[in-house]
Amino acid sequence: MRVLVTGATGFLGKALCTQLQKQGHTLSIVTRYPERVHSVFGANVESICWNHQSSLLKALEEAQAVINLAGASIAGKRWNAAYKEELVRSRVETTHTLVDSMHRCKQPPSILLSASAVGYYGDCNDKMITEERPAGSDFLAELCLQWEAEANRARQCGARVATMRLATVLGPGGALAKMLRPFPSLPINPWKLGLGGPFGSGKQWMPWIHIEDAVGLFLWALQEASLDGPCNAVAPETISNLEFARALASLYGKQASFPIPAFLLRLLLGEFAESLLASQRVVPAVAKRLGYTYRYPELLPALKESVTVLERVFKQ
Ligand SMILES: NC(=O)c1ccc[n+]([C@@H]2O[C@H](COP(=O)([O-])OP(=O)(O)OC[C@H]3O[C@@H](n4cnc5c(N)ncnc54)[C@H](OP(=O)(O)O)[C@@H]3O)[C@@H](O)[C@H]2O)c1
Repeated sequence: MRVLVTGATGFLGKALCTQLQKQGHTLSIVTRYPERVHSVFGANVESICWNHQSSLLKALEEAQAVINLAGASIAGKRWNAAYKEELVRSRVETTHTLVDSMHRCKQPPSILLSASAVGYYGDCNDKMITEERPAGSDFLAELCLQWEAEANRARQCGARVATMRLATVLGPGGALAKMLRPFPSLPINPWKLGLGGPFGSGKQWMPWIHIEDAVGLFLWALQEASLDGPCNAVAPETISNLEFARALASLYGKQASFPIPAFLLRLLLGEFAESLLASQRVVPAVAKRLGYTYRYPELLPALKESVTVLERVFKQ
């Protein structure tokens, strides 16, 4: 089928689009930088600028499905008022533009898979979180609520809408790359030096997913007609942040002996620190009920594979 993708040039988007191409789907990519699309996916992939309304409309008329991943990086910068506004605008306004354009199509795509995040739930202490849990009330929760509300408007033009509430994605990029290379210009890996540790007390539940399963869930969601509504894109094994830190340190033969105190995280990262300290015991109730099979259901093999690939990438 023809699939229109936004945010295709990002960490998850690149991996997903590569698999979509391998499966024989044709891509139309909506982007801020069309030249980057061609260097990543080849000259034959159609790229459309967000502000080119007529091209967006034409591409949507031709597409059977839309995958919406666009958004400024959650961990891209210290959160201040301006960056928080960009985090919202780059998700809510882009999704609004996309869905408005779907409404204007004579024959709109029949599927919209839209990224969201486990941040939807806010801090839930030890409670088990399925898709039925209502949204939290912090900044990220409200952002996810608005983001999903925009995506859900596509139902009014007949589309099946799945909002994929992603956990931290483990793979050759994203949060793990930032943990292993906190200073991008310096090849210093604190975990290799035995200086890694949990965030704050480390007691908070920390949902995660391996990138192969994040991609796998989107590919599955494209075909799974009974998936309609929210879907927790998380691995089945629930772990605490301390267990995550211990597993990561063990891969370097070290212990997670250096917790980063909550006050320091807040000082360095601003309000973003709250999402690292929030406790979210999220389980993939919908994916399990509808029969998705995980490639990496457990943390250690997922982390081992991701670290191995990342170390290779760092050496290049
Ligand atoms: N990776 C994770 O751990 C994780 C966890 C939870 C949720 N998510 C969500 O899943 C989606 C994909 O994640 P990702 O890790 O692949 O993100 P990413 O690497 O940061 O890529 C996101 C893409 O969004 C577009 N984008 C960036 N800033 C933008 C802006 N200001 N306005 C409009 N578009 C912008 C870019 O595409 P162009 O440059 O081509 O326009 C970029 O390649 C994101 O929405 C993210 O919030 C990811």
